[in-house]
Amino acid sequence: MDPADALALLMSPEGRLDPYPTYERLRAHGPVVQAGPVFYVVTGYAEADAILRDARFGVMDDALRDQFMPGWRESPAVLSISRSMLRTNPPDHSRMRRLAAGAFTPRRIAAMRDVVRAQADELVDGMLAAEGPVDFMAAFAYPLPVGVICALLGVPAADRPLFRRWATDLTGVLEPEITADELAVADRGAAELRSYFTELVAARRRAPADDLTTALVQAHDGGDRLSGDELLANLIVLLVAGFETTTNLLGNGLVALLDHPRAAAALRDRPDLAPAYVDELLRYDSPVQLTSRMSTAPSRYGDIDLPPESWVIVLLGAANRDPRRYPDPARFDPWRAQSAPPSFGAGPHYCLGAALARLEAQVAFPLLLRRLPGLAVAGRPERRVRLTLRGHATLPVRAGRQAAPVTVPGTRPGAAGPTP
Ligand code: HEM
Repeated sequence: MDPADALALLMSPEGRLDPYPTYERLRAHGPVVQAGPVFYVVTGYAEADAILRDARFGVMDDALRDQFMPGWRESPAVLSISRSMLRTNPPDHSRMRRLAAGAFTPRRIAAMRDVVRAQADELVDGMLAAEGPVDFMAAFAYPLPVGVICALLGVPAADRPLFRRWATDLTGVLEPEITADELAVADRGAAELRSYFTELVAARRRAPADDLTTALVQAHDGGDRLSGDELLANLIVLLVAGFETTTNLLGNGLVALLDHPRAAAALRDRPDLAPAYVDELLRYDSPVQLTSRMSTAPSRYGDIDLPPESWVIVLLGAANRDPRRYPDPARFDPWRAQSAPPSFGAGPHYCLGAALARLEAQVAFPLLLRRLPGLAVAGRPERRVRLTLRGHATLPVRAGRQAAPVTVPGTRPGAAGPTP
């Protein structure tokens, strides 16, 4: 199949529901392929990693946004994301990132472990109390990340449902294509979220608290500070970038574990193996499937010359299945020699919340497997028809306490356990 046709297939509902066969069609043309006059697609691991670290590539700037999305300045959703670190280039990006990273410290994240465990336990209690099948997405995968981010930011628990709605509404703007209706929903969410954060920031300026919002308000580096607008944009992006992504890791990851009962049983018995499992779950079915970059100077990747102003789609989900990097890449194998998967990106925009997302999943999966040994899919899971953020709309499960009999077709015979 011609690369342009393969790309069109990828964007179609069918392609979005299961992008992996289309990635292989693209890969057949090479790790980097040209899909239009100044339009390129990357499926190779090494090429994706190098392009994301290459200073000749940046995120879409305002001039290009004007060209592709006239009127974007009128959209509160696009405007908020565009003014955050996620969609800015140096020097603004470096300054915002430095200030945010100073607030989002490893110590602050590590201190969230007990909060994550307590919230996960409470959600499992709820699943156990329910009669009949439970939707894992509604009962666990959505509330856990939203609860954790609200706790981190100092948002009262009572406001979590609002945050869940706003974040879900806003994530549409991360997709390569958005309908007018979806944009209207995203805009409404962005406007409401912005006014909520405006009040929260004002409250923290009056009375500082021990939370991430206060740390961002107070963040300074020499004479540098986040402007009022930058503060709001980055608070919004923390929610947008950190919520549904982690939800999808929990949903996609649970499906993979339930599909591989022997591997799941090994994790239940050895929770210390969670870091290796979570990295393999991130690789196997990446919650974020793509990002994009624009080049500012000529470059050459995968035998292809890319002129300045090339638009490059970096398919993280395809890089995660590059057989040159991961032998037998379609196989879920927590035993494989690990190398951090590119699911969190690379280079200057490498995910600021990677440690938090990993922490949530490393606590959640062993806890779910231990407290719900009979956990099993109890109906047809339904995927969200999205490409950038790959996850489930619904995932019906039976949350029984009793372990289901383990039938183990196709897992590696004789494997005693992962050796991360
Ligand atoms: C499994 C969960 C997650 C995945 C797969 C993920 C993935 C990513 C990826 C691929 C990028 C880079 C985008 C690019 O290069 O264009 C990114 C950036 C970012 N992520 Fe995450 N993320 C996750 C969770 C989180 C969490 C929990 C937070 C915070 C609460 C977060 C905050 C951010 C921020 C602020 C950026 C922008 C960094 C920058 O531009 O410098 N993410 N994430």
